[in-house]
Amino acid sequence: YFSVAPSLFGDLASRLHKWELTNDQTRIVVEKPFGRDLASAKALNASLAEHFDEGQIYRIDHYLGKETVQNLMAVRFGNMLFEPLWNSQYVDHIQITVAETVGVGGRGDYYDRSGAMRDMVQNHLMQLLCLIAMEPPSKFDPDAVRDEKLKVIRALDPVAPHHVVRGQYDASPDGPSYREAVEDPRSRTESYVAMKVGISNWRWAGTPFYLRTGKRLVARSSEITVVFKELNHSIFGEKQDHRNTLSIRLQPNEGITLNVTIKEPGPGGMRLVDVPLDMTFADALGEEAEDPPDAYERLIMDVIRGNQTLFMRGDEVEAAWAWTDPIIAGWETRGDVPKPYDSGSAGPGDAVQMLARDTRVWREVKP
Ligand code: BG6
Repeated sequence: YFSVAPSLFGDLASRLHKWELTNDQTRIVVEKPFGRDLASAKALNASLAEHFDEGQIYRIDHYLGKETVQNLMAVRFGNMLFEPLWNSQYVDHIQITVAETVGVGGRGDYYDRSGAMRDMVQNHLMQLLCLIAMEPPSKFDPDAVRDEKLKVIRALDPVAPHHVVRGQYDASPDGPSYREAVEDPRSRTESYVAMKVGISNWRWAGTPFYLRTGKRLVARSSEITVVFKELNHSIFGEKQDHRNTLSIRLQPNEGITLNVTIKEPGPGGMRLVDVPLDMTFADALGEEAEDPPDAYERLIMDVIRGNQTLFMRGDEVEAAWAWTDPIIAGWETRGDVPKPYDSGSAGPGDAVQMLARDTRVWREVKP
């Protein structure tokens, strides 16, 4: 289990081999970060490939071990209900939020060389995006699933500069600012990023995906929300502002909420109201759902069982970097400076404006 600096991966692999500590049954687990750009990820893949087959390499992204993340696939492909609507004809847009309350803490040295884009978007948010957007694999098998995820990444549009907002948290009474935490008063690394992403394929052309993640935000809350389109015609006359939304809460309080429009009870005409069909897994499924196993427990068990479905394949990681690299390169060339935001807020106001330009609003970040 290589939970070490990536610069050691190649040496570890070759020495394990040299001292005959491996055979064709050996599996190696590789922690993130898997490279910091496409070139370094390719070099890492090549150095591991010298001594191990792809089937022996388990690249961990612990988000794939989270119960509710796997549930994305169960909800989509285990129900007849959603899949027919899961496309640009019915879906207005999709929001993916991974909000954290923690700051960079004692990891300033690593984090300041990465930023939210490399630390969260290239891997965790990318995986969530893939699971939400991918075509149904023909079966729940490692390569069938990973082939479909790879197609999503390869169909991602390049991101225009005005479709990205970067932020850096300010100091608050209960914590230092980002720049103080990383001990660099001029750091230009982002602790927050929000972006509008397009997927150029038959299913999603025209439906934007809004992604955001940040540290020192108002709540620890990860959620994916599918916002369906407005009715194309209302028989009730009034201007409709009712939309169905399907929210999948990854953490905390794992669960799913479907907002449906019904008649407001009582006399006096037909007034419509949106109500949640709410299923908190802990309520519906009892104790086991209340305390799901740690993501790593699940993933390590899969390594022992030899199941790679929830691990990233080499080509997937490379494709994710190929999309990420130009975005980061653009910031570097332009000398982009992240926008400051208040610790304990929902992030920089520019992110709100980015959606407002599209006449949309972010979901509230709440615990
Ligand atoms: C890690 C990142 O991969 O994921 C951290 O390096 C981040 O910066 C963490 O805090 C978030 O994981 P979780 O499971 O707490 O959502």
